[in-house]
Amino acid sequence: MAVLVTGGAGYIGSHTVVELQNAGYDVVVVDNLSNSSEKSLQRVEKLTGKSVPFYKADILDRGALNSIFDKERIDACIHFAGLKAVGESVQKPWEYYENNISGTLTLVDVMRKHGVKNLIFSSSATVYGNPAIIPITEECPKGQCTNPYGWTKSMLEQILMDIQKADSEWNIILLRYFNPIGAHKSGTIGENPNGIPNNLMPYITQVAVGKLKELGVFGDDYDTPDGTGVRDYIHVVDLAAGHVKALKKIEAKAGFCIYNLGTGTGYSVLDIVKNFEAATGVKIPYVIKDRRAGDIAACYADASKAKKELGWEAQYGIEEMCADSWRWQSNNPNGYDD
Ligand code: NAD
Ligand code: UFG
Repeated sequence: MAVLVTGGAGYIGSHTVVELQNAGYDVVVVDNLSNSSEKSLQRVEKLTGKSVPFYKADILDRGALNSIFDKERIDACIHFAGLKAVGESVQKPWEYYENNISGTLTLVDVMRKHGVKNLIFSSSATVYGNPAIIPITEECPKGQCTNPYGWTKSMLEQILMDIQKADSEWNIILLRYFNPIGAHKSGTIGENPNGIPNNLMPYITQVAVGKLKELGVFGDDYDTPDGTGVRDYIHVVDLAAGHVKALKKIEAKAGFCIYNLGTGTGYSVLDIVKNFEAATGVKIPYVIKDRRAGDIAACYADASKAKKELGWEAQYGIEEMCADSWRWQSNNPNGYDD
């Protein structure tokens, strides 16, 4: 099977390309490099020993997509391409709706016109809003998102569900990721945020490497065991492996499915600091700050559906997540700019 990976030069995409090639799939990547470097794909090629056909193109560019589908054999698409910065989406809602929603509509239209009706979509636990049930099952009602980024995911889920309902030739799997961290164990590919990181783990690793002074912990008065926010952190390599399992489900005819990809375990911000220090021996100074607008107290998955139906479950624990994040950051203090 040949797979088009949109956003394949990015953090989760590059790790998924490794797992796909290692599992024997043919891969083609399209990415506009708006939040990534082509170097990630050169490093993927070193890791897998296979070449990664790459098109620098925007998924909004119908002509470019048409020519990729005309030229390449493509059976399925794993669709990572999108803008993902929560805070930026509040400042630039039009850009987020245009890029994520119009981009996906364009991609899906080009796919169907080429008779390719197999799609795996990157969704997010953010669609649950402030979750009604914890651990969160896929049956948990979707909630109010607190930012345009989250709404793009929630709206795209609805759009893709309607498309599959109207045409049962489509196989569409929505994967709702919890909090991906970690990096490939080689330390050669990893997360490469632009500017000051918004997310916890890249912030911690940049404190550890000396680029930032201290971690700000956003609130210690939540209704959680130590008062700091609890999340379900998942190793990015486990997440990538989940896409390979989802592809196998598509090959066996999936229809429309939704899966949580998380570990099922919640860790607080201070748990992560302690585990990072234990795994790396590097001290992380921190100060308690006010809560961050839009944050919730706790969010972790019930991942049993993915285990039952995809045969997937996370293999890596928090120690590997911290050690691997650190190996990537310490080997590449400036990400792909080194
Ligand atoms: P990333 O920014 O590293 O990767 C996204 C890639 O898409 C980038 O390489 C970027 O250049 C590319 N891209 C963006 N817009 C494009 C366009 N119009 N045309 C072509 N390429 C485009 O992000 P990531 O962390 O790897 O996330 C991948 C997907 O998973 C995204 O859809 C994101 O919303 C989703 N997701 C991420 C997280 C997370 O915490 N990282 C959590 C839940 C869901
Ligand atoms: N946090 C800090 N200090 C920081 C950064 C984060 O204390 O400098 C805390 C947050 O308050 C939260 C936890 O660390 O309690 C995790 O925060 P992240 O920003 O790393 O992750 P979020 O859970 O807020 O959101 C992430 C992605 C979203 C995605 C969501 C669920 O950014 O896009 O996971 O998948 F929707």
